[in-house]
Amino acid sequence: MQMVDIIAKKRDGHALSRQEIDDFVQGFTRGEIPDYQAAALLMAIVLKGMDAQETADLTDAMTHSGQTVDLSAVGDVVCDKHSTGGVGDTTTLILVPLAAACGLKMAKMSGRGLGHTGGTLDKLESIPGYRVEISPETLVQLVRDNGAAIVGQTQALAPADKKLYALRDVTGTVESLPLIASSVMSKKLAAGTDVIVLDVKTGSGAFMHTVEDSFALARTMVDIGAHLGKRIAAIVTDMDQPLGNSIGNALDVREAIEILQGRHVDSPLREVCLLLGEQLLRMTGKAQTSVQARAMLEQALRNGDALEKMRVMIQAQGGDARVCEDVSLLGQASIIHPVVAPQSGYVARMQAAEIGMAAQMLGAGRMKKEDVIDPLVGIQMHVRVGDFVEKGQPLADFYLNDTAQAEQAEHRFLQAIVMQDHKPVAVPLVFGVVRAEGEERFFDA
Ligand code: URA
Repeated sequence: MQMVDIIAKKRDGHALSRQEIDDFVQGFTRGEIPDYQAAALLMAIVLKGMDAQETADLTDAMTHSGQTVDLSAVGDVVCDKHSTGGVGDTTTLILVPLAAACGLKMAKMSGRGLGHTGGTLDKLESIPGYRVEISPETLVQLVRDNGAAIVGQTQALAPADKKLYALRDVTGTVESLPLIASSVMSKKLAAGTDVIVLDVKTGSGAFMHTVEDSFALARTMVDIGAHLGKRIAAIVTDMDQPLGNSIGNALDVREAIEILQGRHVDSPLREVCLLLGEQLLRMTGKAQTSVQARAMLEQALRNGDALEKMRVMIQAQGGDARVCEDVSLLGQASIIHPVVAPQSGYVARMQAAEIGMAAQMLGAGRMKKEDVIDPLVGIQMHVRVGDFVEKGQPLADFYLNDTAQAEQAEHRFLQAIVMQDHKPVAVPLVFGVVRAEGEERFFDA
């Protein structure tokens, strides 16, 4: 079938066949289908959707558009995690060594940050010497020997997604359940792990703004993974405010190390890591219940095993592991500028994406792929939704090396914090868990 006919078929609301999806994915990856036709089809998918079979076919076609990683030489079940992207989301840096300390084999391929969401690779590169460009063979060896590795996604992995994502980013076609689900899952499936835990974000800083949409995305991804023989679960978590207190790169690493050191026991970031870890320990059979799993994870944080895994992982990838004892080795920005509350009141809401954009304006993130980030800059939050603040009290500290954009970033940040005079209703952190066999909701949406 001609590409124009495939576009028209989707435009008219019909399901595409496996052959049509393969023709599109292969033709586009090889450069035979021009961007304007691919963009038209993507927009038709955004508007008309895809059924479960089409979504599974699209995922499979994208998974096999390039290389797939063979992790069988690890000689054990290998686990992975993925977050659909948020602000102040440093879960990977904590969960990977933490789960490894509980006996799991963690092989994580990560990407770079773009827009308001941070990227794990950028964070790790703020550790002096840390190398993220690691071959699949070395990844196998690191995971086999140490239980944990976080590396850059190879260029050859799911190239169709790379090209499609870049096009979606500039054609208003990111926000689509089948497109997001197939994008995430194609990379997970090509990365070759056996057990996958997903953190699906919901709220103003997430791709999915409503809890219902987030559960639907979680369900779609879990179904795709389970259908293809993976052990997979997803948790749906809040992204209406930054998850951790740090939004930057070295700042995020510092927070992750402090949590691995056993600090910040009440932190929502730590809690999400424990929940993700629980799912992995249960799916691998290392724990029979959530209570048992949580006890194992808490113990690894308390007795230093999780921090030790972080040290081993950093060292194995060429980084200066002394940062695990002395976070000042990460360096610090030259200016710390407090951003204060313009009035007294309760923090009612935050626009998490806008806070991420403010951090990006300071140089912590990228607007375009080519932008260079400054690892030391970012935002250290001092408040969460529900806190009462007096006028003039710091809401956050901006870490800066350059004041060029600071005023505009401060304006953007302050616009993102909504204050009111009465205490707001508490926001749940975790909305529920989606497993292959069913879902458990912790709150009514
Ligand atoms: N993350 C991805 O990898 N792909 C999407 O489409 C959205 C979030």
